[in-house]
Amino acid sequence: MTNFETVEVNTDLLIVGGGMSACGAAVEAAYWAKKHNLKVTLVDKAAVDRSGAVAMGLSAINQYVDLVSGKNTVKDYVDYVRNDLMGITREDLVANIARHVDSTVHLFEKWGLPIWKDEEGNYVHEGRWQLMINGESYKVVVAEAAKNALGMENIYERIFIVEPLMDGDVCSGALGFSVRENKFYVFKAKATLVALGGAVHVFKPRSSGEGLGRAWYPPWNSGSSAYLTLRAGAEMTCQEVRFIPVRFKDAYGPVGAWFLLFKSRATSSLGGEYMAERKDELENWLPYGKVKPIPANLRNWLGMMDVMDGKGPIYMRTEEAIQKIADEYKDDPKAYKKKMKHLEEEAWEDFLDMTISQALLWASTNVFPEQEASEIAAAEPYFIGSHSGASGAWVSGPKDLAPAEYFWGYPNMSTIKGMFCAGDASGASSHKFSSGSHAEGRIAAKGALEYIVKENPQLKYDNAAIDEMKARILKPLEIYEAHAKETSDPNINPNYIRPKMFMFRLQKIMDEYAGGVSSQFKTNKPLLEKGLQLLNFLKEDAEKLAAEDLHELMRCWENIHRMWQAEAHVRTILFREETRWPGYYYRADTPKIDNDKWLKFANIKWDPKTGEWSTFTKDIIHIF
Ligand code: FAD
Ligand code: ADX
Repeated sequence: MTNFETVEVNTDLLIVGGGMSACGAAVEAAYWAKKHNLKVTLVDKAAVDRSGAVAMGLSAINQYVDLVSGKNTVKDYVDYVRNDLMGITREDLVANIARHVDSTVHLFEKWGLPIWKDEEGNYVHEGRWQLMINGESYKVVVAEAAKNALGMENIYERIFIVEPLMDGDVCSGALGFSVRENKFYVFKAKATLVALGGAVHVFKPRSSGEGLGRAWYPPWNSGSSAYLTLRAGAEMTCQEVRFIPVRFKDAYGPVGAWFLLFKSRATSSLGGEYMAERKDELENWLPYGKVKPIPANLRNWLGMMDVMDGKGPIYMRTEEAIQKIADEYKDDPKAYKKKMKHLEEEAWEDFLDMTISQALLWASTNVFPEQEASEIAAAEPYFIGSHSGASGAWVSGPKDLAPAEYFWGYPNMSTIKGMFCAGDASGASSHKFSSGSHAEGRIAAKGALEYIVKENPQLKYDNAAIDEMKARILKPLEIYEAHAKETSDPNINPNYIRPKMFMFRLQKIMDEYAGGVSSQFKTNKPLLEKGLQLLNFLKEDAEKLAAEDLHELMRCWENIHRMWQAEAHVRTILFREETRWPGYYYRADTPKIDNDKWLKFANIKWDPKTGEWSTFTKDIIHIF
């Protein structure tokens, strides 16, 4: 590709991604870098102001531990997360985030994020750990602080990061390309912080046809964190722990405000409340079936049982919940009217702050939430280490909390020297959400700078190997140029596959063999083995991906990243021979939870030297 300029950027700390954890990393890194005269560079595929999962805004800060008031302790939060993940949690990582997250939330407020307050000036809680916000501009506020800290001259926007750059076993930066101009980027760095979010559209989405692209998690997070860490040879954890959120149907509006703030019930179309009617089922998933709150996957599972019994649709009873709150004012008609109006506003604002498309769907289908219930449904599976999923890299804990088995020098460093991870990129530390991801970005950035200062890594770069990678990364453009004119319709061509078709094939494999929506989230060993075989064919065809322009080149690589996330997932579900997370996936051939054998982390690694995968367990060590 002679018409592609190669741009080389030399830096000390490279932050790849511009989302919540990357913005946290930027703020913290700027502080420590100044002290040590180091350079920090941030790269995002989009514009930091509106990139990542918080692009549309959010309506709540889902992790606030409130240590100052003394109402909660770090242990309380660790207990909550461990229970929600059916016992599989790195307590050292969760505790490290929990003890720092409040300060991050206070920074958000200082930077201008409006957090709801009651008459006494206290934060308004959605639930025990969640705070309500006016969050339409959440990402803009957080991005502004990151940009001020680093300076725009150190931020590269609209650069898609494709591959890690390695000096043997040590990470030495990353490679990418501009999605706007013919430029190939070589970022050379002493440490790299991976903060590229989770993965969507690995599984066939419920939204297809005119709704294609709409998902709960943002479609532009395409598994790049998993790809970069896997390709570097990093050990990964919890790759089987997908997240399936129950969401308002078709526009994927979140349910937290409805369940926690409005205290709504969910019922089947026949009127039964599955959380009450199916309580006995929880006995099959002990001890986690008895914890409070009931784990997210078990809540899903009880609803799914109603759907499998033909009792759908499932409804969020918005009308009932609003009425119940307003009824407290029914003796005073004026106060009642005022309250009703206020509740209506809150109902709409929740979505206008966070999932605007849900408000649009309500408006376009004449839904008045105070008058009628709305359908909810289990979404397709996502990969996200920061919510109620857990997939990500296996990272070092903090020195003062982590047992020796979980500590190798620097907090949040992966098993690859010089490669750090935060947010969705780091595993087994769920329920960090937006605020915890930001806090974890700060922790990881500080760790990375400590690594640079203490180890001062001297890295070698092989220019011939970089040129080879450049040719490989840009190859889809060449394939298209060489063959597109050979057929009358450029979509149909025996010499290549376009990224959209490739994505459809990946999604079909995952949906049918790995327990997607149309398989009712169920799978088994033969299905998974067949799925792996088909993924292998897909991998062969990945060599024939074609791109008409830079945008499609990004689409090609997004889908290769998704494919690697898919393979790590299938291999790990195959390895864990039990059903631990019914409601996320159900292994029909090993239908029970098996605490004796499987109260363990299932870890996986791809060896860059041999191309072989290995799966193995790691012990769960309690620190609380
Ligand atoms: P993100 O913030 O998603 O950032 C990922 C970044 O990586 C983006 O900047 C993206 O552009 C970039 N990127 C991806 N691939 C590449 C690539 N190849 N090259 C370069 N850059 C790349 N949390 C709450 O606390 N409260 C809520 O109310 C809440 N509601 C939510 C509602 C929705 C609809 C969603 C989707 C999420 C919600 N969350 C909420 C969760 C929260 O948004 C995430 O936990 C958090 O954003 C994760 O941070 P992250 O840095 O890992 O990923
Ligand atoms: S969001 O990230 O898209 O806003 P969601 O609406 O599911 O997620 O959840 C927001 C917060 O509420 C999370 O902390 C989640 O764990 C919690 N939550 C949602 N539903 C329930 C429920 N039924 N019981 C307890 N906690 C819940």
